[in-house]
This record gives sequence, structure tokens and C-alpha cells, in this order.
Amino acid sequence: MDIRVERCRAEKFPCEILLLFSFEAPEPLEGPIKSVDLEWKGFINTLMSQGDFKGELFQCQLFHTQGALPAKRVLLTGLGKRREFDLEKWRGTSSKAGQFIRDFGMKQFTFQMKRLENLSEEELAESFVTGLLLGTYQFNEFKTLEREKIKEIEEVMLLGETDEEIKRIGEGLKRGKIISEAVCMARDLVNGPSNKITPTVLAEKAQGIAKDHAMDIQVLEVSQAEAMGMGAFVAVAKGSQEPGKFIVLEYNKGKVFDTIALVGKGITFDSGGISIKPSEQMDRMKDDMSGAAAVLAAMQAASKLQLPLSLVGIIPATENLPSGKAYKPGDILKTLSGQTVEVISTDAEGRLILSDALSYSLRYQPKAIIDLATLTGACVIALGDYVIGLFGNDEPLLKRVEEASDKTGEKVWRLPLWDEYFEYLKSDTADFKNVGTRAAGAIIGAIFLSKFVDKTPWIHLDIAGPASIEKERPYIPKGGTGVGARLLIQLLRDWKKD
Ligand code: BES
Ligand code: MN
Ligand code: ZN
Repeated sequence: MDIRVERCRAEKFPCEILLLFSFEAPEPLEGPIKSVDLEWKGFINTLMSQGDFKGELFQCQLFHTQGALPAKRVLLTGLGKRREFDLEKWRGTSSKAGQFIRDFGMKQFTFQMKRLENLSEEELAESFVTGLLLGTYQFNEFKTLEREKIKEIEEVMLLGETDEEIKRIGEGLKRGKIISEAVCMARDLVNGPSNKITPTVLAEKAQGIAKDHAMDIQVLEVSQAEAMGMGAFVAVAKGSQEPGKFIVLEYNKGKVFDTIALVGKGITFDSGGISIKPSEQMDRMKDDMSGAAAVLAAMQAASKLQLPLSLVGIIPATENLPSGKAYKPGDILKTLSGQTVEVISTDAEGRLILSDALSYSLRYQPKAIIDLATLTGACVIALGDYVIGLFGNDEPLLKRVEEASDKTGEKVWRLPLWDEYFEYLKSDTADFKNVGTRAAGAIIGAIFLSKFVDKTPWIHLDIAGPASIEKERPYIPKGGTGVGARLLIQLLRDWKKD
């Protein structure tokens, strides 16, 4: 989709379809829709006062202008109640309008961006573009039949009037594009099946990002990881014929900025291993690398946004399969930290590969470590597919994550990490077990991870619920969501040196 900024007013611009927004009646028309209404002899006002268009949230209604305006058609879209309006609703409305236009079969549209409430053109443009690009995302890579029926918007014209407006809209557009393209890349990786998105492919993707954005990269083979002492990662990787990869991507390496480590679970398929999962819905387990996808997306966007930070992205990538070489319940593994773990279930593989990745991240002496993982089914039971489970050992960092969450609409909810929960992981034969009880499963998973970060400020995001969804949301189609990427990017954008 090509999105451009042009200088014009909505009521003057000749186009196939002009997009206009209004709050829910009885709010008066304002901004571009008001100017268009004046030109149109009060037609829109009449529609609204007669109840033909109410301006309810996400309501879309198309009208032909019959030559009354340079635009051939107008799409009226509702913003809902004025006092409930925010950027999250705005992303939803731009998505709904975009979906309407696309499904109607149009390939282009025009929209005049004006300040709304107390939001700047820049903020509005960024969120408009984000909602539009994320809401019209489709995953059609593997569809070969009737490809000509796939509908796509090709061109969008954002109108601004003054130099200042045009500049602000351009800035917002640029950021919105960078962020949305990164999220869509993450979604492609999550939606991609495990026979295509292997650990090797994840490593190649990371290499591509490194090359395009002048980052440093290291991809460790399983044999190298073994030599370094990553007994937990190696144990999981050995069960598969598909070679595991331990990916380390560095942005602004060696610069004076704060260093932040981003760690993403990269299980490209989770069968459960010897503790094999039930076959029902096992296909979903191709999304078990959603944390890795979010980390790659955040790294790419951070670099394109030229954020003044040093970032280390660490992705332990492997399949989790049963085989003659697979690790087994009862096995005792020596982790990179030196601590030993008794394997109770080979299906609790995420925390194992992450333990070595978290220990590895300490080498960079980061100011903060943030890990993202589809770690536990228990988190889905606790919070549903709507919310990220949030854990951490540092109050200011937790607050920053919550602020980023408020801004992006990627919801998080805190769960505790009290010492008492560690009791559940006590082992008779090793330092601790990889599984506790079914009860409090998400917390126990997080407690396990906490043993590998020492005192470093650390956040664990359990994204098992929202990583992929079965029912679409206003600007998130069903399937892989790329969740966590926008949250990370916002957190990094707002990072201030203390
Ligand atoms: N990848 C799964 C977690 C998961 C489950 C993600 C459902 C998305 C949807 C993880 O590796 C896993 O299998 N966790 C186990 C842990 C248990 C053995 C302690 C689980 O949640 O059952
Ligand atoms: Mn598992
Ligand atoms: Zn898993």
C-alpha cells in the first residue's frame, strides 16, 4: 500500500472515494466533514439529523456525490461518542474504513487529516496508518487458487493544508509505516507454518534484518551452544532433525547508549516432545515463536526509527519434538548459569531455552531485560486471549511497560512473583524442577525464569493468549497478531536515561 501526503482540502480534491469521520450524533460536524457538508448544501447534516447516518463507532456508510463534489463517492465513518474517543478507537476506525473500502473493491482513497480533540496531526497520522495497515493485513502467501479475487488497497492520499500540517502528517505517516510493517513481518512469521519457518529460516530472517540495518549478528550452532554450556537449550534442540539456532542480534553495538536486552522464545513448533501434547489444536503450536517474531520486529523498527539505545535481541530457536535423541522426563540438565534443572515435563521447554538465553543476556550488563514468550497455557486460562501476562522484578520498569501498554492498546495485566511460589519448583535431585503444579502455572513459569536474571531489572511477558486469536478485533485480523512488538517499540521510544 502506497500512502502519500498531498496539499489540498477534502472538498476540493478529485478522487474515487473520500473518507470522512464524524462523532456520534448529536455532536456538530467539525473539520473536513463540515467543509464538505457546506459544499454539499448540508447533505451530511440532513443524513445525520434524519438518522440515516448516526456516527456510531465503526459505522461505515457509502454515498455517491452525483457531481456535487470533486470526489465521486464519500465514505462516512463513525467515531462513536466524543468523550470515549482515544487513539485506540481511532486505530479501530481507520481499520474499519480501510476494510470497508477494500472489500467494496476500491483500490484507492483520500482522507484529510486535521487535529481532533487534543490530538496532533502527527499522532493522528501515526495511529491512522497503524490501524489501516494492521487492519487490512492478510496472509495469502500459500493460497494459489483464485488469487485474482484477493482485494487490496493500493494507494492512499493523506491531505494536509498548511506546510506545518504536511510536515507533521509526513512524520506520523513515516513512524506508523515503520511500526506497522514490523508488526506485519512478525505476523507473517507467526502465520507461516513450521515446515517453512524453521529455526534456520528465523536465523536467515535475522541476518537479513542485520544486513539491511547495519546491525551485528551472531548465529550460534547447537554444537557451539553446547561448548558454551547451554545445556538446557541444547537438550531441547537435540530432539529435532531441524538444526536449532541461537540468534544474537545487536543494534548500536558498543555505543554509549543504555543497553536493553530483548529475549524471544523461538520454538518454531512445540509438539510437547516426549511429554507429547494432545493432537487436538496442536497445529496452533506453530505460533510458539511469537516472542521471537516480536523481538525481530522491535529490533527492525528501533533501527528504522533510529532510537538512541543499544539493543541486544536474543532468540533461542528450535523445534520441540520427540525422537530417539530427545530429552526425557527425569533428565537433569546443566544450564549456562551453572544451575541444574530436573525435567518433569519436556513440554515445559520454553523456560528451558529461555533460561540459557536470559543467562547469556547478562554478558551485556543490560539496564533491563525483557523477555516475550508463549510460555504457558495457564496464562491463557487466567487472562484469555486478550491480555499479556506481565511479570517483573523492578517497579519502575513495570510502570514503564504499563504506560506503553496504555498507549498501544496491547493490554497487560500484572501477576505476582512472590518467593512462596518457588516452593513448587523444589527438586529432590537437582537445584529445581522445570514444572511445579498446574495451579498458578503462569506464575510458576515466570518464577522459573526469574532464577536466571540475577538482580537485573527484568520483565517477562507471557503472550500465550494474544499471540494468535480466533476472532478478529478492530484492527487485528484473526491468526497471528504480532503482539508485543508495538508494546516493545513504544517502551523503547519512551526510554529515558536515568
Ligand atoms: N507453548 C506452550 C504454551 C502454550 C499453550 C502456548 C497454549 C499457547 C497456547 C508451552 O511450551 C507449554 O507447553 N507449556 C506447558 C507448561 C506445563 C507443562 C508446565 C503448558 O502450559 O501446559
Ligand atoms: Mn511446550
Ligand atoms: Zn512451547
